[in-house]
Amino acid sequence: MSKLLLTNIGMLATPLGKGPKKGAEQGEIQIWKDAWVLCEDGLISQVGTGPAPAVEAAQVVDAQGSLVTPGLVDAHTHLIFGGWRQNELGLKLHGKTYLEIQNAGGGIQSTTNATRSATEEELTAKAAKALDEMMSFGVTTCEAKSGYGLALEHELKQLRAIRRLQEEHPMDVVATFMGAHLVPAEYKDNRAEYIRLVCEEMMPAVKEQGIARFCDVFCEADTFSVEEARQVLEAGLKYGLRPKIHADEIEAIGGSQLAGEIGAISAEHLIVCPPEGIASMARGNVVACLLPATSFNLGSTFAPARDMVNAGVAVAMATDFNPGSCPCLNLQFVINLGCLKYRLTPEEVLTAVTLNAAAAIDLADKVGSVEPGKQADLVIWDAPDLDYICYRVGSNLTRGVIKKGVIVR
Ligand code: NIG
Ligand code: FE
Repeated sequence: MSKLLLTNIGMLATPLGKGPKKGAEQGEIQIWKDAWVLCEDGLISQVGTGPAPAVEAAQVVDAQGSLVTPGLVDAHTHLIFGGWRQNELGLKLHGKTYLEIQNAGGGIQSTTNATRSATEEELTAKAAKALDEMMSFGVTTCEAKSGYGLALEHELKQLRAIRRLQEEHPMDVVATFMGAHLVPAEYKDNRAEYIRLVCEEMMPAVKEQGIARFCDVFCEADTFSVEEARQVLEAGLKYGLRPKIHADEIEAIGGSQLAGEIGAISAEHLIVCPPEGIASMARGNVVACLLPATSFNLGSTFAPARDMVNAGVAVAMATDFNPGSCPCLNLQFVINLGCLKYRLTPEEVLTAVTLNAAAAIDLADKVGSVEPGKQADLVIWDAPDLDYICYRVGSNLTRGVIKKGVIVR
């Protein structure tokens, strides 16, 4: 049996439980001072305060009086892609909008071209490097979407890259099929046929190979309408893929209302989410997965996070790491934005990037908090307390990262 005893924790901060935290509960986290955590065989077996017990044959790690939290969970990334899109920065500086660039053949379509030309090995190696960097920032579990293949063979290639990372990388990675990210150029005049392909050819193959747990769709003006998104997500349900939806990122066309109606596990972005959308998500128990680094990069407004908490919607936060709207994989920056832009408290923010993020990918029973029975995923911070990591901007404040009871950084 492998044992790791983490001692001398100045502050242990964690939400508790196996499900999402809503309303006032989002800010009601557990804070222990002078604590220790015992990990056995990759799981947390005991948590205590005061002097740590002597444990035979355990590797002892001294946290030196600093802050320890659960490993962070990045519940929304577009991890697998070819190329980058730094050329779009100049276009944006000259006033072109995200949708204008997309409609002119840039944006998702240009990353699709680069992803189609890349091999599975190239995509895997590139993403592994990104996972290393994410882990260095304290992330121990993440979600990864396909959606830059937009053709059966290339969507499956992306999902196989994710499967290889699941096998080879210490990060826990969960896969989302997002064939409905954009109608690719070759189907521009035949949208219905592309949607049929997604629902009747790609989804059965994804199910047969068992390589994704969720299905996502970009419900947006000029991308997929609410009715098209409904069709895609209902087909996903038929193939055992739980629905997620990119909604209200740029225009509020009804995506968040659909999320509630269809019982999506999460709705993403929600930058311009209207009150009806918030109410629908509350009714449907949808986790709102907010992506403030995307607002930052797009120069747009920030999602109404406080209204969501007040309405009893569980709020998670993630990076949205992708080569276009958010070339940022630093979840610590998202923590800063959660406080500074959403005006969430440090306690609410911690829940948003741990337990609620885990709930957004259906893993809240396994990760997202520090308590016996959960996976031993922990971050030791170069910080005395929780406020400190929310307030310091632009540095990497991790001192150590533990994944399944093993020090990985
Ligand atoms: O979540 N909005 C759609 N998808 C991504 C952006 C993809 C891209 O720009 O390549 C997002 O922002
Ligand atoms: Fe996204």
